[in-house]
Amino acid sequence: MEIIIQATQQAANEVAARIVARLLHEKPNAVLGLATGSTPLGLYQALIGMNLDWSQVTTFNLDEYIGLPREHPQSYHSFMWENLFQHVNIAKENVHIPDGNAEDIPKFCAAYEDQIRTAGGIDLQVLGIGTDGHIGFNEPTSSLASRTRIKTLTQQTCKDNARFFGSEEAVPKHVITMGIGTIMEARQNLLLAFGDNKSSAIAEAVEGPITSINPASALQMHPLVKVCLDDPAASKLQRADYYRWVYDNKPAWQIF
Ligand code: PGA
Repeated sequence: MEIIIQATQQAANEVAARIVARLLHEKPNAVLGLATGSTPLGLYQALIGMNLDWSQVTTFNLDEYIGLPREHPQSYHSFMWENLFQHVNIAKENVHIPDGNAEDIPKFCAAYEDQIRTAGGIDLQVLGIGTDGHIGFNEPTSSLASRTRIKTLTQQTCKDNARFFGSEEAVPKHVITMGIGTIMEARQNLLLAFGDNKSSAIAEAVEGPITSINPASALQMHPLVKVCLDDPAASKLQRADYYRWVYDNKPAWQIF
């Protein structure tokens, strides 16, 4: 894992945006895995500001609530169009977001996995992390080999997401999410985390044992992961000084 710690969220987002932009320059028809929630908003704003060419880009989103109408303001369909897709020249047919209203959820999930494979696999997957260590909506004790499927959210995640829905009760309890196994097949993962409330989850994911109790810790087994943090999210990392040292001493060709 490459841990990139920046003083501010904005600085960390700028690094993350340069990583994505480099990929799109090198591979204009890249397949991106995308995330929702508060975390990737700054990255998406930075990418919009870069005026990149998205005309050949294909995207797959990590997850979606089950049962929310697609037009609901808190659906991840609405989120993605509002915060990224309507601002870039992406082709609508290249956008893939799980269908939380699919009649046959297991069949839909298997087809989603097929679509990812048919597209050539995900080149770069953007990830946030839950306060409980979830990536996508793979809650603690998710199988580390899991694929796209239905999950039931933890009470903690419902509490965390109540801010978007006005109350905890209004948060849908079920979601479709790519599995940890799906995420592990992305060629590169880019995990973002900001704020002190993510510091424990990040410390466990980066420096703790690999365990399904912190699903993000599975990324320790992935060959290419970058973790972009602001200082507060990095505050519980025991080796933060080492990670800063590594970043400050990168060979020129490795600098984003
Ligand atoms: P957040 O959620 O970005 O809204 O903090 C992260 C997550 O649940 O993965």
